[in-house]
Amino acid sequence: MHLTREEERVYDGERGWANEKCMKILVRLGELFDAKRLIPIESAHVSGVSYKTLGDAPIEYLKALASNGAETRVRATLNPNSFDEYLQSELEPSLQNKQLEILEQFERMGFTKSSTCTPYYLEKPRIDSHLAWAESSAVVYVNSVLGAWTNREGGPSALAAAIIGKTPEYGIHVPENREPQVHVKLGTRLRKDIEFGALGIHLGRILKDQIPTVEGLSGAQYDDLKQLCAAAASTGMVNMFHCEKRRGTITNTSHSVTVSSEDIAGTIKSLNTGAESKPDLVFIGCPHCSLNEIKQVAHLMDGRRVKPRTEFWVCTSSHVKETAKNCVQRIERSGGHVLAGVCTVVSWTETLGIEKIMTNSAKTAYYAPTLNKATTILATKEDCLKAALQR
Ligand code: F3S
Repeated sequence: MHLTREEERVYDGERGWANEKCMKILVRLGELFDAKRLIPIESAHVSGVSYKTLGDAPIEYLKALASNGAETRVRATLNPNSFDEYLQSELEPSLQNKQLEILEQFERMGFTKSSTCTPYYLEKPRIDSHLAWAESSAVVYVNSVLGAWTNREGGPSALAAAIIGKTPEYGIHVPENREPQVHVKLGTRLRKDIEFGALGIHLGRILKDQIPTVEGLSGAQYDDLKQLCAAAASTGMVNMFHCEKRRGTITNTSHSVTVSSEDIAGTIKSLNTGAESKPDLVFIGCPHCSLNEIKQVAHLMDGRRVKPRTEFWVCTSSHVKETAKNCVQRIERSGGHVLAGVCTVVSWTETLGIEKIMTNSAKTAYYAPTLNKATTILATKEDCLKAALQR
């Protein structure tokens, strides 16, 4: 892999231990994938921020980096963590302290404070800009819907890229690797949020890592595409797709598959592991809500109350929460909770006695049985609200 003189100096440790370490991670990664060089990135986004999934060992590494001069060179954002002020009172102080320690190390290095899996609502990446993002749902969304370019980074490589400001040029940073390999034709019209999520789960399962063109998404809302992207990344290694929504037209490939209404219905059924009884938690906000989604929820809740002994959570970034102040007040007046910077899936829901989660997110429905030890009900946003609210 070719390095410039300046990159060589960093590699040789002339800019300190932290920079050397990060440069070596990027060079090793580049060599593994036959990258010819490093390319500048516009931003980096790091996943693996919740103490629940991160554990103790990486905290020492973060401390070592922050204490040895690691500073972000580009705009750098963080994925959600495990608690916010609402969940704080339920969480053991030792777990809180560990989580705060992690956030503190990232802040010392210059990461923004707003923890979210939808960093594109804070600042939209420019079309054709190169990024190093690690949250899989956001990776598929920025590549497919916003037209930026990023591989699916792991937490450590995204962190290294944030410190160096560059990433190895391989994978879908290379134009020919973004060409479609399979044509997906929707044999049914998708109308509901959960149908887009189910399409994603299905595509992830059948396509593995192949890049598809998906025909039939021209009328999809951006929030629906977000559900599709998050779900596709959960079951497969699909990092992008092409669709008319972004390109106007799409090219057919010789290999094609059709997705039927039975495929969608069957997938939704497979994600409903909970019985018909009442959920303990009704949850909207995986991936984190857009302003538009918060407005919809506030509108659906107006003048009504959340049922007793039911938790109703809406997860978003602190940025969107602040922007949607008025809607947040309306949701909270009705007994709901708008959580900022938190991911339900990587928070300690088990310790709150939550055994059944109802959600409109196919991604949460896919992961919650393992990560939250909860059964799940996948239902539209409207049906989630119906279940959460008193008549
Ligand atoms: Fe975001 Fe957590 Fe879902 S990181 S995409 S809310 S699983």
